[in-house]
Amino acid sequence: MNRLIVDQDKCKKDGICAAECPMQIISVTDRSFPAIKAAAEERCIDCGHCVAVCPQGALALTTMKPEECPPIQKELLLSEAQVRHLVLSRRSIRSYREKQVDRGILENLIRTARYAPTGSNLQPVHWTVVKEPTQVNRLAGLVVDWMQPMVDGRVEPAYPLVRLKPIVQAWQKGRDMICRGAPHMIVTHGPKDLYASLPACIIALTTLELIAPSFGLGACWAGYFNAAINTHPPLFQALGLPEDHQSFGAMMIGYPKYQYHRIPLRNEPPLAWR
Ligand SMILES: Cc1cc2nc3c(=O)[nH]c(=O)nc-3n(C[C@H](O)[C@H](O)[C@H](O)COP(=O)(O)O)c2cc1C
Repeated sequence: MNRLIVDQDKCKKDGICAAECPMQIISVTDRSFPAIKAAAEERCIDCGHCVAVCPQGALALTTMKPEECPPIQKELLLSEAQVRHLVLSRRSIRSYREKQVDRGILENLIRTARYAPTGSNLQPVHWTVVKEPTQVNRLAGLVVDWMQPMVDGRVEPAYPLVRLKPIVQAWQKGRDMICRGAPHMIVTHGPKDLYASLPACIIALTTLELIAPSFGLGACWAGYFNAAINTHPPLFQALGLPEDHQSFGAMMIGYPKYQYHRIPLRNEPPLAWR
């Protein structure tokens, strides 16, 4: 089946689609309209670059028409100063208001973060949201159950004990240092044997954390929670993840209780030029 459809009235045979195709499977000459090279259809990764880059909107894929693809609004693009401030002012948020986040807002956040890049455009990221705060607390307890034998010296600790002991002790005193009392958790997971799953999940959650403040939200990576999902079956089962999946990142999310007023200092980047 020909997945590339050309509007011959609009196409100017400028070759931009062929130049930008990541798989280099489009041929176009000044005499011919763009076409997918012989036997190359199966190499198409459906990234839509040919559709998105054509100035005339002359190309469609069977999976996406140009009129379905939102136009890029230049007036909405951020300046360098705005982007730099966005990145520098991002903070891990560990104190949350009790207010719950509407399901629609969380869904919007995820629907934006899904535009993060994925290897071969495989889009392998699955999202599981723990919506109920009581459930988040119950799951944090399962993480403590996972840590307890390490702290007791019954199993090899997965993290230094100086890190684990205060977390378990805090839990016993009613303070949650696992999910930090966040109202919701977002877990990204994907097929465990797929090469694209790990980077895609991490990049997607990184994107989500970065954009969360524009939704009035704050987030924080939940490293212990994520480690426990993959090594403590009761947590994996409580989340209802598919058997052939692995969790590649978890995040707390909610409305921040406090605002930050300064950007903390960071090390100079160890940078080599060759
Ligand atoms: C992979 C990863 C796992 C993390 N896990 C936790 C965690 O379990 N609990 C926590 O409070 N913070 C966690 N953090 C947040 C870091 O502690 C935080 O990014 C770091 O202290 C720098 O602060 P900033 O994010 O505000 O710049 C994690 C961060 C990353 C990248």
